[in-house]
Amino acid sequence: MTQDELKAMVGRAALAQVVPGSIVGVGTGSTVNCFIDALATIRDRIHGAVSSSEKSTERLRAHGIAVLDTNAIERIPVYIDGADEIDPRGHMIKGGGAALTREKIVADLADRFVCIADVSKRVAVLGRFPLPVEVIPMASAQIARRFVAWGASPVLRAGVVTDNGGHLIDVHGLNITDPLAMECEINQWPGVVSVGIFARHRASLCLFGGPDGIETVSYTSAS
Ligand code: A5P
Repeated sequence: MTQDELKAMVGRAALAQVVPGSIVGVGTGSTVNCFIDALATIRDRIHGAVSSSEKSTERLRAHGIAVLDTNAIERIPVYIDGADEIDPRGHMIKGGGAALTREKIVADLADRFVCIADVSKRVAVLGRFPLPVEVIPMASAQIARRFVAWGASPVLRAGVVTDNGGHLIDVHGLNITDPLAMECEINQWPGVVSVGIFARHRASLCLFGGPDGIETVSYTSAS
């Protein structure tokens, strides 16, 4: 099976996580695009969606799925999104598609985060994938210097402006053994909009697509 076929398979499998009649939280990326296409087949059974990016909003609306304003919603039962890396406790690196800030906002509204990914995203320790950090443009050099002081290599993502008008720094060379502590630390730095470590908003469940089918992994509070 190709990687695209694996993504299509998990996108379809995620339909089983959708609560009928509810508002569905929708992430961003190529795996989520497959989920959105599958969601269109049950669009009459949901109330609508909240979206984590302009790209996903466009795709949802093209399928006739209503996209609601996050400010009008108190809670949603489930948020479905991909990841760039996921560790054995459900901590993730996200933001490869530049949507990390809105992804974290929608994840924060949700009772459960269901991650959909092909097996290549599974790692023992986060950090091989460069960590995306969205920053206020005037702070980018200062924030980059902080990463250099950690021995890491920050790279400004050329030509990218996020949906929120921010810039992105991709940080290479981190070994993220304590995702929660690192997320909290980076969040304190002036000018950081959000960091692509999802530890406080880790996955509750992950559907991994692999050559043998779907593996479902549930992450409990004790894991
Ligand atoms: C978007 O900003 C990201 O967080 C995506 O969820 C992540 O990059 C996974 O994308 P793919 O499904 O395209 O691999």
